[in-house]
Amino acid sequence: NFINGISSFHVLESQIKERLHLEHVIIVPGNSDNQLSIKEDLGIACVQFLKGILTANQTVAITGGTTMALVAKHMKRVEHAENCTFVPARGGLGEQVENQANTICAEMAKKANGNYRMLYVPDPLSEETYYSIIEEPAIKDTLETIRKADIVLHGIGDAITMAKRRKAPERVIEKLKKEHAVSEAFGYYLDEEGEVVHKVRTVGMQLEDLTHPKYVIAIAGGKSKAKAIRSYLRQGMSNVLITDEETAEELLKG
Ligand code: F6P
Repeated sequence: NFINGISSFHVLESQIKERLHLEHVIIVPGNSDNQLSIKEDLGIACVQFLKGILTANQTVAITGGTTMALVAKHMKRVEHAENCTFVPARGGLGEQVENQANTICAEMAKKANGNYRMLYVPDPLSEETYYSIIEEPAIKDTLETIRKADIVLHGIGDAITMAKRRKAPERVIEKLKKEHAVSEAFGYYLDEEGEVVHKVRTVGMQLEDLTHPKYVIAIAGGKSKAKAIRSYLRQGMSNVLITDEETAEELLKG
């Protein structure tokens, strides 16, 4: 079903496309909750899709996470797309170094023979620091690059899992539980209806900026993430989903 990055889940893909109002859906076999190799397939499928849409001199904004790290692992040079720039969509968001957007960007750029920009900001930021940091020339410059992104690649996670992974303070976890947060993407926590219930204060792409790029690609698999994927996609900001078979089947049940 998945040979050389070509999927044959056409029926399932069009069902998901219709149900979740997406322009493109790519499905790899299996359930990436159980097997790392399936998560790797998500990365391979993403690189394959990217090859088809990327053109020279484009800017690609990316987020962090283990799935995105596997996209970088499988990234390849795209001959018709020289001189592309990879930039983190937002700050570090409390991830371990190897899963931070900065690290992933550098790896993607190296493999694609492109350029990268870094975003060195602590997070979460206090309000005061936020307003002074966005005035720093180096940060301002990167923020402008982010705003011009042609393509965005991002992960989606379960809200509580992500809050704990980021070692969010107990009061934040309590708030997320109280407000029934189910998903997280770009540092935004959303409830089942796709409404924002909490946001990590950091610089970079804001949800409303996602209307600009032509492709906003969510890469998220694992049956345990189905609820989160459905919740996040209710925002209607992403137009491509790369997921796995069992997650896709679960998404259709909701
Ligand atoms: O922290 C970055 C991030 O992209 C989150 O926005 C998202 O919830 C998470 O990583 C996904 O991580 P993983 O691919 O490891 O499940």
